[in-house]
Amino acid sequence: MPVGKTLISAAQIHRRTRELGQLISNDHAGKELVVLGLMNGSIFFLTDLLRSITIPTRLETCRLQSYQDTHTTGQIRGIENLEGEFRGKHVLVVDDILDTGLTLSKLTAALRAQKPRSLRTAVLLSKQVARKARVTAHYIGFEIPNHFVIGYGLDYNGAYRSLPSIHLFNPA
Ligand code: IMP
Ligand code: MG
Repeated sequence: MPVGKTLISAAQIHRRTRELGQLISNDHAGKELVVLGLMNGSIFFLTDLLRSITIPTRLETCRLQSYQDTHTTGQIRGIENLEGEFRGKHVLVVDDILDTGLTLSKLTAALRAQKPRSLRTAVLLSKQVARKARVTAHYIGFEIPNHFVIGYGLDYNGAYRSLPSIHLFNPA
């Protein structure tokens, strides 16, 4: 059975997402925030987080891909899809999980070239693993062990995204 034990329940996710939304709103009080969601993994976290942020936001998305099966390919496809106006804006990048760090480091480098006024990152999960890129996230929902996980947006080759909780993945 590929869907293993529940690591983080839907209720825990919702509670933590509300906390992060409040923190982000306080840290950016009086400002407008451009929220850039990395598709598809962040889709549920993104929409729940957005509804917990109480300051004005504008939404942008970018579709990126790096994983094949349960391993990173080391190549981030889709940075060329980065659209939107970030110059002079307060920007928050939202992703599902920080693993090797390659995705966030390459994306934030591309964003910095557009000279945003401020740039921060939020991830629901951070894997306790040696990063391949020197990067951290400003807002982290949960630290998790180095195990492949599925659910709440996280997929295995496109499957299991719609599980409401986060589960360990059991390879066949
Ligand atoms: P990084 O570039 O290695 O930091 O990986 C980030 C991307 O890899 C995330 O945006 C996810 O799409 C994917 N990823 C990393 N770990 C997992 C996992 O455990 N389950 C599902 N996707 C993952
Ligand atoms: Mg992703």
